[in-house]
Parts: sequence; C-alpha cells; structure tokens
Amino acid sequence: MNAVQHVINVSDLSVFKVQQLIQRAIALKHQSYPKRIDANVLMAFYENSTRTRLSFELASRQLGCHIFNFDPSTSSDSKGEVIEDLMQTMIAMGIDLMVIRHPDADSVQSLAETFGERICIVNAGAGMNAHPTQALLDMMTLIDRGLTPSRVKMAIVGDVRHSRVAQSMMRLAQMLGVRELVMCAPQPWLPESVCYGTLTDDLKSALEDADVVMTLRVQNERLEKSEVLDEAKYKCQYSITQQSLAWAKPETWVMHPGPMNRGVEISSEVADGPRSLVFDQVKNGVFMRMAILESCLESEHYPKLS
Ligand code: NCD
Repeated sequence: MNAVQHVINVSDLSVFKVQQLIQRAIALKHQSYPKRIDANVLMAFYENSTRTRLSFELASRQLGCHIFNFDPSTSSDSKGEVIEDLMQTMIAMGIDLMVIRHPDADSVQSLAETFGERICIVNAGAGMNAHPTQALLDMMTLIDRGLTPSRVKMAIVGDVRHSRVAQSMMRLAQMLGVRELVMCAPQPWLPESVCYGTLTDDLKSALEDADVVMTLRVQNERLEKSEVLDEAKYKCQYSITQQSLAWAKPETWVMHPGPMNRGVEISSEVADGPRSLVFDQVKNGVFMRMAILESCLESEHYPKLS
C-alpha cells in the first residue's frame, strides 16, 4: 500500500484534493469504472447510522474490497475493552481501512494520530464536530447539478449548533469560496462563532435569493434541557415549506442530509418536490465514498502535489 491517507476533517485536505475527489466521484457516477482494490475495510459505528453506513458498504463492495462489521453492542466493547485495544486487534488481523463513527468529537482524530501510520481512518461522523464525507458528497451534488460554489448563496437552516454536517459544510464552503453562506436557526441553536458565513435567526432574510437551502434535523439526542424548544413554534418559524421556500430563488435546490423528520424541519411537499436533492444526495454518497476509499487505499489515482 502507498502512503497512508486519512479523511478526518475537511480542513485537513487541500483545495486541490477536494476538487480531485469531487471530480473523481462525478466521473465514477457518469462514466468511469473503478479499479478493483483488494483491501480489508472495517465499519465501526458507535452511533446509529443508515445511509452513511450503507453507502460506505456499497462503495467498498463496488471497489471489490472485503467488508467487515464491528458492532460495539455485540463485541468485546461491551466487555470493557478500550478502543485503542480494538485498533491494535484490527491492525494485527490485517484491516487496511477503518470507517468510524463515534459520539466523542475528538476520538476519531486522536485514533488517527495514534494509529495513522498503520491503518487508514475515515471519519463517518465525530460527535458534533465533523462529518467530512457528508459535506463532500453534498458539494459534489451541487457541482454535479452545474452549480459553481463561488456563485452560490447557500442557506443552512435548522439545528446548526449541534450539527456536524453544518460544521463540515461551513469549512468546505470556506475552502471552495462559496459566495454567500448564511446559517439560520433560533438563537439557542446558533453556534457562538463561525469560521465562515453569517448567522441569523430570521428565516426570510436567510432564504432571500438563496440558490441552495440545506435544512437540518433537530439533534434531539444532543440538546441540553435549556436548548429544548417548543416544536410547534419552531415548525411555524423555521420549517422549509412551499410557503417559506417562496422567499428563495424560484430555481433554488433543497437539500437534507437525512434522516428527515417530515413535517418538522421540512414539509413532505418540499422533500418530494421537483427542487429536492435529498435522494440525489443519497445516491451520490456512494460515488463520493468510492472516490474517498480509492484515494485512501490507492494513492496512485491521486498523484500527490509536491
Ligand atoms: C447526519 C449525521 O449523522 O450527522 N446524517 C447523516 O450522516 N446522513 C445528520 C443527522 O443525524 O441529523
């Protein structure tokens, strides 16, 4: 195997690398066949997942990799084994790449620092901090639809504060120079600071002239008591419906990373409507993850910049 590469945070990648990954994912979707890679890939999900896990599994299969699943609830994790010993065990058994989702925001990063010389690590969601592969597939979806990041106004609406999707998208938007990024939520769900874009609690101004509206699920499992808001009031003020969407450009695209809570952050009419990219995102997730796995496992696809 060539030099070990990881995908832990969007900001660890160069702009060139991001563009390469997006172009490769688009090529895999439309024309090109992947080279088969004889590698052992482990899925280790310490938090629930449907689309992220399945799309990594599908992507690994498409590449011809051997997939193994580690289920913390039925493994020695439940007998008190620490994650560091799990890593040593997996490395000793010959796992080449580990796709990991963990509720602790820093754990994936620290595993990469400790074991990164011996195993590729791909972050499939770390606490509230980062979900780099979701941001990459979302950006790929927009570019594949013919949008140019530097010309786009993007509004991210919903529980921004507790969303790792929003965190990673903010960083990616900064790297690719998205023209305007606005994050909109009721005050308790706005982050204290942002590295890019602006914050507002006013949905109308956030949506005005938006080319893309990304709506987020309320992260109920992460809310402190004081952050629990009245759902009816939230829906009334922040739900993306045909009515609120009328504030955006008529040709605006609507995105949602899933899982959706229909009738809360998004109406069914919008989710299933002609401007919805929700299932495009899911489909593209497989190609983006193929590109990412290829890049980690077969670095000759991606000649390094000196
Ligand atoms: C997101 C996640 O897990 O962070 N889902 C996903 O990976 N597609 C968003 C969420 O759970 O709301």
